[in-house]
Amino acid sequence: MSAAAAPKGTGTLTAPAGARHARIWGVGGYRPERVVPNSEIVDVIDSSDEWIQERSGIKSRRWAGPHETVVTMSVAAARDAVASAGIQLDQVEAVIVSTVSHPYQTPAAAPIVADALGLRCVAFDISAACAGYCHGISLANDMVRGGSAGFVLVIGVEKLSDFTDPTDRSTAFIFADGAGAAVVGPSDTPGIGPTIWGSDGSQWETIKQNESWLEVRDEGLDFPSIGMQGQSVFRWAVWGMAPVAQRAIDAAGITAADLDAFLPHQANMRIIDAMVKQLKLPADIPVARDIVETANTSAASIPLATERMLREGEIPHGGLALQIGFGAGLVYAAQVVVLP
Ligand code: UT7
Repeated sequence: MSAAAAPKGTGTLTAPAGARHARIWGVGGYRPERVVPNSEIVDVIDSSDEWIQERSGIKSRRWAGPHETVVTMSVAAARDAVASAGIQLDQVEAVIVSTVSHPYQTPAAAPIVADALGLRCVAFDISAACAGYCHGISLANDMVRGGSAGFVLVIGVEKLSDFTDPTDRSTAFIFADGAGAAVVGPSDTPGIGPTIWGSDGSQWETIKQNESWLEVRDEGLDFPSIGMQGQSVFRWAVWGMAPVAQRAIDAAGITAADLDAFLPHQANMRIIDAMVKQLKLPADIPVARDIVETANTSAASIPLATERMLREGEIPHGGLALQIGFGAGLVYAAQVVVLP
C-alpha cells in the first residue's frame, strides 16, 4: 500500500547536497601542430616581426589544420586533463566547453566532445569569449558544491583561424588556435576562491563577429570574421582589469604576497605587464607569458599557459594562482585557485 499523499501545498523536496569544497585536480592542453612565425603573416598585413613583437609580445602562434577541429582539440586536451587529475574518464559527470569558434550554430560542441570521450553526461557550451575558462571554473565549482555533478571537465577551446581575416591588420597577428582543459572535483579544503565577474555590454561592438549571420544571408556576404577595435579594448583591459584581479585576491582572503603564480588571459604582453605593475605583484612571482609562442587563443589561453608552466616546473603544484580572463562582450572573470 502506498503512503498517503501529503496535503496539497505542504510537499517538500529533497535538496541537492554537494561537496563542501571543490578544486582543480588536473589540467591538460592541446597545441596544434603547425607553428606560424610572424614572418609568415607580415607581408599580407604590411607589418613587421619587430612591430608585432613590440606591440603584442607575439613571436609565433599555432594554427590548426583541417583535421584539428574545436572538437578534436577539446578531446585531446580533456584526455590530458583527466590523466593529470588521476581519475578515470567515466568519473566525469559534466562537460562544459567555452568557445566562440565552434562552426555550428547548434548543437553545442560539448555533447559531441562528451560523446567522443565515451560519455553521456550533461554537456553544454558557454559563450564568454576570452573570459570563458574562468567562467567555466566558477560554474564547475558551484556545480560540485551544489551537488549537481561530481567531477566536471572545463574546456576552453578556439579555432580562431577559421574566423580571422588574414588581411585584417588589427587581428591577423593576434588570434590563434588551441585547447586547454581542467578537471574540477570535490575537495576537503577550499580550492577555488570567490569569482569576481561581470560585463559591460555597452561595449559589445568593440570585439565582435563583423556581420551577423542574418546580414551574411540577406546581403550575400562572405563568411564573417571577428573584428576588434584594439585600442578601445586595450584601454578597458589596462585600466579595468587590475582592480577586478585585486578584488579576487581580497575575496580569497589573501594578499598578493601569498600568490605563487599570476595567470592572466594572454591578450597582449603590454596588458600583462601593466597588470603586474598595478597589482604590485612581488618581483619573483611567475607570470604566464605564453603569448610569445601561442598568441591569443581566447578561452584556451589560461589553461594552456597553466598546463605548460606546471609541466615545465615554473609554478608549484598546490600553489596559489590568480587567474583572470577578459574579452568580447565585454566580459570578465577572475578567481584565485589552488594549482593541481
Ligand atoms: O582577447 C580579448 C581582448 N583583446 C585584447 O585585449 C587586445 C587589446 N588590444 C591590443 O592588444 C592592441 O590594441 C593591438 C595589439 C591590437 C594593437 O596595438 P596598438 O598599440 O593599440 O596599435 P594601434 O591600433 O594603436 O596602432 C598603432 C599604429 C598605427 O599607426 P599610426 O596611426 O600610429 O601611424 C597603426 O596604423 O600602428 C599601426 N598598425 C600596424 N602597424 C604594423 C596597426 N596595426 C598594425 C600592424 N602592423 N599589424
